[in-house]
Amino acid sequence: MPKYTIAWMPGDGVGNDVMNATKIVLDKIGFDAEYVPADIGWEFWCKEGNPLPDRTIDILKNTDAALFGAITSKPRDEANEELAPKLQNTGLSYFSPIVRLRQLFDLHTNLRPCKAFPGNPLNYRDDIDLVVFRENTEGMYGGIEWFPLPEKIANAMADKEVGHPGRMKKWFEKGLENVAVSTRVMSRQGCESICRQAFEYAKTHNRKSVTLCEKPNVLRETGGLMTRVFRDVAKGYPGVEAWEANIDAIMMWMVKNPQDYDVLVAENMFGDIVSDLCAGLVGGLGFASAANIGDNYAVFEPTHGSAPKYDGKDVVNPMAMLCTAKLMFDWLGESDLAARLEGAIGTVISEGKIATYDVKGRGKGDSTTAVAQEVASKL
Ligand code: IPM
Ligand code: MG
Repeated sequence: MPKYTIAWMPGDGVGNDVMNATKIVLDKIGFDAEYVPADIGWEFWCKEGNPLPDRTIDILKNTDAALFGAITSKPRDEANEELAPKLQNTGLSYFSPIVRLRQLFDLHTNLRPCKAFPGNPLNYRDDIDLVVFRENTEGMYGGIEWFPLPEKIANAMADKEVGHPGRMKKWFEKGLENVAVSTRVMSRQGCESICRQAFEYAKTHNRKSVTLCEKPNVLRETGGLMTRVFRDVAKGYPGVEAWEANIDAIMMWMVKNPQDYDVLVAENMFGDIVSDLCAGLVGGLGFASAANIGDNYAVFEPTHGSAPKYDGKDVVNPMAMLCTAKLMFDWLGESDLAARLEGAIGTVISEGKIATYDVKGRGKGDSTTAVAQEVASKL
C-alpha cells in the first residue's frame, strides 16, 4: 500500500495543465502516494448544477490531503446562463467550490509563501521573502450576504436598541430592492488562531516580524477585535516584532520596501488582496503557491486562477503548482522531499534555460511540460 492517498482535483482550465506537469515531478521524486481523481469545478456546475459534488466530498474525507489545480468562478447571472437547460430556473445558484471546501473542511488557515528565487528575472527585488497567513473561513468571504436586502434584516440593522437607525436611513430611502449587503463576520477564535499561527511560524522559522494588515480605524468592530487579539497573541512571542499596518498603507509600503517585511497576517479578504500583491513582487501568480490548512486535512492549490484562454495549450507556468506540491510535502512532514523539490525548482529558475512565456516573453517560452521535465531532471 502506498504511504499516502491524495485527492487529485485538476478543476478548470489550466488546472489540468499544471497538475499534469506536477505529476511528472511527483513520480520522479518518488513520492509514495496513490492519487484519487475527484470532480470539481465549472464543468460539474454546468452539467449537474453542483461544482462540488457529494462524491468529491466523500473522496476528500477518505484521503490524507488534496492537490487542486484551479477554479473558474463567474458572477451569478453568467453562471445561470451556462447551466444545462434542464437545470435552468430550478433555484440553483453558483458558489465557488474552493470557498465552500474551505468552509466545509474548516481549512481555517491559508498559507501563502512568496519568496524571490535567485535569478528569476521577474523578481521585483531579489531580497524578498514573505509569508502570508490569511484567515480562510470567516470575514468578508464568510458567505453571509443578501440581495435584495430582506426587510427583516434591514429592520434589525435599523433597530433602535441593537442597530444603527440613523445610518440605515439612507438605504431605506433608496428602497431595499436596490440594496445589497455582504457582511464581515469575524470571531475571536478565528482571529486568535490565525495570529497565533503567524507568530508560531515566525518563531520556529527565525523570522523577524509579523505584520497585521487591517483597517481598525474604519472597521472598528471587526478590525478592532483582530487588532486587540493580535496584540495579545504578540505578548507571548517577545522574540518576534509585532507590526501593524492599515491595509491601504501596506499596499504602498510593500511596493516601496517589500524587503522590510517578513510574515504578514490578515483576515480573509485582506489576505486575498495582499497575497496577490506579494505574488506580484516575486514573479507573479506563476510562482505563487498556497496551502489551505485545517486541523486534520489540507488542500494545496496555487494562488492563480484557471486562465481559460490558455486551457490545454501547455503554456502556463507550472512553478506555482510545483511550489504548492512542496508545501504539501512540508505539511505531510516529508521535509526531505520538500527540500529536494525546492532545490530543483531553484536550480531551474536560476539557470533560466527552460522557462514559460511569462518569464521569457511571449512567443519565446517553453511549454509547461518542458519546465516540469527540467525540474524533474534536477531532482
Ligand atoms: C484565491 C482566489 C479565490 C479567493 C477565489 C477564486 C474564490 O482569489 O484563492 O485567492 O478569493 O479566495
Ligand atoms: Mg485571490
